Amino acid sequence: MIKRTHTCGELRGKNISETVSLTGWIAKRRDLGKLIFIDLRDRHGKIQVIFNAETTPAVFETAKKLSMEDVIGIVGQVVLRPEDAVNRKMPTGEIDVEASGLEIFNESAPLPFDINDRKSASEEHRLRYRYLELRTQELQYNLRMRHKAAKAVRDYMDSLDFIEIETPVLMKSTPEGARDFLVPSRIHKGKFYALPQSPQTYKQLLMVSGFDRYFQLVKCFRDEDFRADRQPEFTQIDIEMSFVEVEDIIRLGTDLTRQVWKAILDVELPVEFPRLSYAEALERFGSDKPDIRFGMELQDFGSFVLKSDFNAFKSIVADGGISKALVCPNAGNYSRKIIDGLTADLKTYYKARGLAWMKAVKGKLEGGISKFFAEDLQNEIIATLNVREGDIIFAAADEAAIVLPAIGALRLELGKRENLIDTSAWAPLWVTDFPLVEWSEEKNRWDALHHPFTRPHPDDTALIESDPGKVRSLAYDIVMNGYEMGGGSIRIHSSDLQKRIFTLLGIDAETARRKFGFLMQAFQYGAPPHGGIAFGFDRMVMLLVDSNQIRDVIAFPKTTSAMSLMDGSPSAVDDEQLEELGLRLRDLPKS
Ligand code: AMO
Repeated sequence: MIKRTHTCGELRGKNISETVSLTGWIAKRRDLGKLIFIDLRDRHGKIQVIFNAETTPAVFETAKKLSMEDVIGIVGQVVLRPEDAVNRKMPTGEIDVEASGLEIFNESAPLPFDINDRKSASEEHRLRYRYLELRTQELQYNLRMRHKAAKAVRDYMDSLDFIEIETPVLMKSTPEGARDFLVPSRIHKGKFYALPQSPQTYKQLLMVSGFDRYFQLVKCFRDEDFRADRQPEFTQIDIEMSFVEVEDIIRLGTDLTRQVWKAILDVELPVEFPRLSYAEALERFGSDKPDIRFGMELQDFGSFVLKSDFNAFKSIVADGGISKALVCPNAGNYSRKIIDGLTADLKTYYKARGLAWMKAVKGKLEGGISKFFAEDLQNEIIATLNVREGDIIFAAADEAAIVLPAIGALRLELGKRENLIDTSAWAPLWVTDFPLVEWSEEKNRWDALHHPFTRPHPDDTALIESDPGKVRSLAYDIVMNGYEMGGGSIRIHSSDLQKRIFTLLGIDAETARRKFGFLMQAFQYGAPPHGGIAFGFDRMVMLLVDSNQIRDVIAFPKTTSAMSLMDGSPSAVDDEQLEELGLRLRDLPKS
């Protein structure tokens, strides 16, 4: 078997006259009668190989059968290309290899799509043949960056004396927010393990065990609704530390991010990342993960509404609702159709009320709701909101919980549409002071915003029973370019406080004992103050490779409907398998 002496990407002019062996895939083939040119590719690059009918007739005969993506080995001599044939775009473009030996390892069937062009096939088709799509330059690059980022993380954490500890993948079902994936036990029929949504409880237990500084690159599993930046199984950089406060974790999270950006992109991020409280992030950007690469902040519009004749909004604001506006530069030429489209996009957030608008033309406001605003009021709006000629003002009114995310989403949409986002910029920030709980209409009770182990802000603990909605938590998120890249909190390390939180969350003593008894018990034996964070590693890599699709940085991802098109999972199982597990499917189709 021909074994390579070099990779396809490394030969240069300095290797002239050397006899080399190369192995790889045929990326391109040109037949010029007496000469056959191929590009041979491996993950290191491409090189041109020539088969010559005159000098090596036997090898040439075999080479005639070669086709795209066949896997071959060749032996040959490195020669300089004539000056006019040098390809400056190819790192090996200065040379060719003249083949004197050829071994065909495997002939490829015709390819289901062109692997030089990912756009040549639908994503569904590409996912079915993911192993081929992974041959594309883009995905090869992405996975190499993923490896490098993982290594940078491990090296950095190691340098700070963190130790990586593996935690179980089969664990007790303790739903944290999303649904658990369950695994039936054969030995203990009728009982189930769950796949971890995160190693949250384990890392807290490791702190009780005295490990002090833990981290893990770890797979997590959540049965939730999927989007471009979410997968049912994903990887976290999971971190926990003892004897720390919020500032310590923010320092570490900032430094880790800086380290990774430096190692992968050679980008120097600032020593301190900006910070916003949750309340301020929502108020100014309409999002708890604001993209601060551009301005166009939400502006208060309620005071103008109250002075106007626009009764639809006026009554909302008078009844305690809010009105917020955005002033979008140079968008005064938006047609009705565009505005209707933008309104329709907001429907998921902002169901009932319309999106109001006015355009700034010749120092006045025109169109839309402008007729409800007297001239003086228009002038006041133009001056206060800093409206310029050709701008458009969009406004919405409703409860804050509806208006803020709606206008926040509109801000992002307009930012993209009007190219307001500096795509070469990196805008990390920390969002802090999240509320501890939020009211769930559906469940008719308070829900933990982060998870039940998050410590309330010490200034607010007195409000836990009396006014839970006002209690802030010691939780924080790290946001990069509008993506939630990570989140964590300082934990509760006293069982008494933990019990109060469980009570608040409607988890009664018996349920708490059944679900989290082991953690409560552990806290009785010397629990250090502790806290941590988890970065979404896939999201981090997605940002690093400048993609907006998390599937692009995962070797074998699932679709948005949580399917693996390549191996066809999830799939039905044999009756025997079910029998062995003591399970029977109820009224469900078998396939
Ligand atoms: P959280 O649930 O915020 O915190 O998750 C941490 C980070 O993981 C990423 N992430 C995801 N990435 C891809 N697909 C998903 N389905 C998905 N869900 C979450 C996000 C997120 O910021 N145990 C806590 C951390 C802690 O408190 O230390 C936790 O899991 O980038």
